[in-house]
Amino acid sequence: MKKFVSALLTAAMMAGLFFQPVETVQAEKNENKVLTIAHRGASGYAPENTMAAFEKSVDMKADLFEIDVQMSKDGEIVVIHDTTVDRTTNGSGKVKKLTLEELRSLDAGSWFREEFAGEKIPTLSEVLDKYRGKSGILIEIKSPSLYPGIEKKIAEELKEHNLHKPHNEKIIVQSFNHDSVQTFHSILPSVPVGVLIGYNEAGISSEEMNEFSSYAEYVNPSKKMVDEDLVDRIHDHDMEIHPWTVRDRKSADALLDAGVDGIITDYPDYIE
Ligand code: G3P
Ligand code: CA
Repeated sequence: MKKFVSALLTAAMMAGLFFQPVETVQAEKNENKVLTIAHRGASGYAPENTMAAFEKSVDMKADLFEIDVQMSKDGEIVVIHDTTVDRTTNGSGKVKKLTLEELRSLDAGSWFREEFAGEKIPTLSEVLDKYRGKSGILIEIKSPSLYPGIEKKIAEELKEHNLHKPHNEKIIVQSFNHDSVQTFHSILPSVPVGVLIGYNEAGISSEEMNEFSSYAEYVNPSKKMVDEDLVDRIHDHDMEIHPWTVRDRKSADALLDAGVDGIITDYPDYIE
């Protein structure tokens, strides 16, 4: 009799699974999936923050790519990591002292490999145009203190591209400058924001965690700070964690074991 009841229960459970609508199963799967986020695009394989690196990210099926944004002398939002063009182009000088035309005349690919000669510094607008609906995008506001008003400009660009509403592909805005994150959040609260945390031995205090959770959906720390306890604390505050920057398989595996929600990496193929 016991066996019969147990068989009956198993059959009922299986039927429940069978009859769960396909969309529900898919949504649950996606919810639990660890996101692969290509750092500055797939920057292990193509020059960082160029269309070539973003294309590679999409080819490699990363869920999102990360970009760094700053502002040109004439107020255009451009995609570049350093506050000067020296390291990643054939030019020199500060981003904020160069016009869009001057920035666009530079070669942002040859420094990486000759085959990428001719890659340009992209504008945020062209990235949103090309990848809207094709990839998630994690937008880092770089050195916002140099660019008063940059948060409003980014918000305007997102609205112009109709990316200010919840969307299939995630759009997230983050910064190490938490005042800037809060400013952006107050301008465009419908777009989720994240706080970036540089490595520090003290970790994240309870006060900080409470403060972050009052406006942010993501806490994105240096991978060196991450253990299961930190992941749990962030989850207990209803936020998610996307550590950076993974450049080897061993650290990818350790972060996966710790239970992170996404991994920011130069090598999207390391996240398995
Ligand atoms: O997205 C996090 C990571 O990009 C922060 O460091 O210097 O690569 O912008 P960095
Ligand atoms: Ca970045």
